[in-house]
Amino acid sequence: MLTRRTALLGAVTAAAVAGAPRVSFAQTPTGPFKLDPLPYPANANEPHIDARTMEIHHDRHHAAYVNNLNTAAKDHPTLGTTPLQDLLAKLNEVPESVRTAVRNNGGGHANHSMFWQIMGGKGGKPTGDVAAAIDRDLGGLDKLQNDFNAAGGRVFGSGWVFVTVTKDGKLAIETKPNQDTPLMDGKRVLMGNDVWEHAYYLLYQNRRPDYLKAWWNVVNWDKVAERYAAAKAGTLTI
Ligand SMILES: [Fe+2]
Repeated sequence: MLTRRTALLGAVTAAAVAGAPRVSFAQTPTGPFKLDPLPYPANANEPHIDARTMEIHHDRHHAAYVNNLNTAAKDHPTLGTTPLQDLLAKLNEVPESVRTAVRNNGGGHANHSMFWQIMGGKGGKPTGDVAAAIDRDLGGLDKLQNDFNAAGGRVFGSGWVFVTVTKDGKLAIETKPNQDTPLMDGKRVLMGNDVWEHAYYLLYQNRRPDYLKAWWNVVNWDKVAERYAAAKAGTLTI
């Protein structure tokens, strides 16, 4: 029989669960590296990228990279006090015992932090300086999209396709395997797309080209323009 006390406890437990933050399980990172929340609701990129994919991708995959990075930093506290872009640019100076962990998880943390920022938009066309740079260096938006999608389609297995940006504002398309990033070559990333299957499998299964094409509908060109300006000002980090 349900007593008043157990009924109350049950109500409290149910309320606690209902009110619990969405990212409240064991994967919530603790340590010097932080997982920022998505800058928009998980369904903001629908119908092109479904909310469930966004939740799993951010709350589990990205969280795991941050957790693993924090684990590496436990025995090597200077990792946690060095800017991530500097760690990645000088992997050869990272202690050998954690170098691979920093490469994979630090790369994953940087790549995904950039990725969330530049989505949640409505696609369309860039304007202003970044549009002019795309015309000048990449042959215009249509050619950028075709070349970027083709490069992303050619990545064998898991990896990323990026547009890199120099301090002079020059753009180039580049791919990397796994969680590697142009930051590891001391470069800066204007924008990039994740072609790991975890980024698209629920909605697109093996149809990576369809995902690559649809992804442009959620690009936030205002954010990309901000990153372009920051790159030229020398303040773009990851
Ligand atoms: Fe990913």
